[in-house]
Amino acid sequence: MHDAVKNILVTEEQIIERCKELGKQIKNDYELNNETPLLVGLLKGSVPFMAELMKHIDMDVCFEFMDVSSYEGTESIGDVKVNLDLRCSVKNVPVLLVEDIVDTGRTIKEVKRLLAHKGASSVKVVALLDKPDRRVVDIEAEYVGFEIPNEFVIGYGLDFNQKYRNLPYVGVLKEEYYM
Ligand code: IMP
Repeated sequence: MHDAVKNILVTEEQIIERCKELGKQIKNDYELNNETPLLVGLLKGSVPFMAELMKHIDMDVCFEFMDVSSYEGTESIGDVKVNLDLRCSVKNVPVLLVEDIVDTGRTIKEVKRLLAHKGASSVKVVALLDKPDRRVVDIEAEYVGFEIPNEFVIGYGLDFNQKYRNLPYVGVLKEEYYM
């Protein structure tokens, strides 16, 4: 275990198993409507989750990325800034937004609004992690990997000042690392 990690919350094996379940559920749900979702990952945190999840969605899905930012250090700063926009049109496209974690909910709320404005036929959200205790806006992801307590986590895409994204598990960051 990395020295910055207080304890592991979700192991790599648990994430892979959950991605298999989510992949099946997503396929079934979209197939019911005769649709194939376009996966839109939010950089950079969604990358490892996106890579694992898409292997288990047994459909001809395509994927794109966007980069938005709303977070500095360990505290959310509210407004969402688009650093890198989509390179393709999402007009009449069912979009499945792939996110590492839903915390205050501001990011997905704003990005959902943006994609709806661009004409997406639907915008659903799949998040690896959910911290419901931290929510400040009224929004939920349609698909959630794991609900976690209100603690700052790193690994499997999640960072602290850009570090620790490559850890193969989700762990709680030791307090002395951000105090
Ligand atoms: P929200 O807009 O507050 O829901 O924030 C979502 C973004 O905040 C996520 O995409 C993460 O980049 C970041 N974030 C929220 N909680 C954590 C955490 O515990 N560790 C690392 N990043 C986090």
